[in-house]
Amino acid sequence: MNINQAMEARHSVRSFKSDPLPIEAAQALRDEIARCNAEGSLNIQLVLDEPHAFDCMMARYGKFSGVRNYLALVGPKGRDLDEACGYYGERLVLLAQQLGLNTCWVAMTFQKVPNAYTIGRGEKLAAVIALGYGTTQGTAHKVKLPQAVAPNIQGAPDWFVRGVDAALLAPTAMNQQKFTLIYEGENRVRATPGRGFYAKMDLGIVRYHFECGALPTAIEWL
Ligand SMILES: Cc1cc2nc3c(=O)[nH]c(=O)nc-3n(C[C@H](O)[C@H](O)[C@H](O)COP(=O)(O)O)c2cc1C
Repeated sequence: MNINQAMEARHSVRSFKSDPLPIEAAQALRDEIARCNAEGSLNIQLVLDEPHAFDCMMARYGKFSGVRNYLALVGPKGRDLDEACGYYGERLVLLAQQLGLNTCWVAMTFQKVPNAYTIGRGEKLAAVIALGYGTTQGTAHKVKLPQAVAPNIQGAPDWFVRGVDAALLAPTAMNQQKFTLIYEGENRVRATPGRGFYAKMDLGIVRYHFECGALPTAIEWL
């Protein structure tokens, strides 16, 4: 499965089978986590066989079941944390999809579990990503029109149109899709988060999707 197929196939899945992650899949995720942490100065961790984070009213209300594995998105407190976690977290989500796993971003409907992961001094847990073998593959979310998120898309180059299409496949909190993408000439794009809960995390996720869709053009973000 290439990255475009992974973006098409990914949907949030909240109900998981009890099968553990194969050793090779866990290792591939750990290797990519190490690269993401180095590039993004983050402390993302893979938490395996830990059932308590989703053993709470909020998670049950959110229809989560069988979650035993997740990514803990930890990093230095500050205004850039949410966007960085969005960008690198989605890179890991799409790798998980390519490894045959299912995922769901979770910022609200879980509980923090002390000692399941490390939060260093000056760091915080921004969100988690549930992962494992889903009982289903999920369903496609409702998508806005390209021109609703990219007002100057008409006449923009093909790579920009591909980037916007990929951005619309991205998960956003409550599927709000509040982001805006503006073509600024050459390979430049301006991305703005809009208002809403977790809009900056969404923007990081959207930027990663956009970059994948626009390949081989390398984007200069303004
Ligand atoms: C930053 C972020 C936070 C989210 N938090 C939750 C959550 O707390 N509980 C939940 O059930 N889903 C959560 N989601 C999943 C979204 O509801 C889901 O991604 C969105 O409805 C789009 O559907 P899709 O992922 O199937 O494309 C979150 C998604 C994002 C991107």
